[in-house]
Amino acid sequence: GPPFPVFTRQEVACHHSDADRVWVTYGSDVFDVTDFLELHPGGKSKILLAAGGALEPFWALYAMHKQEHVLEILQSYKVGEL
Ligand code: HEM
Repeated sequence: GPPFPVFTRQEVACHHSDADRVWVTYGSDVFDVTDFLELHPGGKSKILLAAGGALEPFWALYAMHKQEHVLEILQSYKVGEL
């Protein structure tokens, strides 16, 4: 497929609420998880803690995310790269 657009961490940080869309990063990938907020088993408020930034510090605490099926869900929301 075509290459993904490239964003800076500063651009990602602008997307930190429902109104501005909710973006997160994992590694060097960028995801728009706005449409997943209401589907998250851990609740919308938890994802909003990571909104606009990296998932790693949170997933270090909630290690149940480091499973194939969770990473597949995340991958389906990819919109770009850093
Ligand atoms: C559970 C996805 C971000 C906290 C889950 C589960 C999925 C998921 C699929 C169910 C896992 C399972 O039971 O096998 C995601 C995705 C995220 C994200 C795609 C990216 C935006 C976060 C963040 C936090 C968090 C940032 C914490 C700040 C939790 C908690 C649960 C959970 C506490 C357990 C809920 C329960 O079983 O009662 N997440 N998550 N998640 N997530 Fe997330």
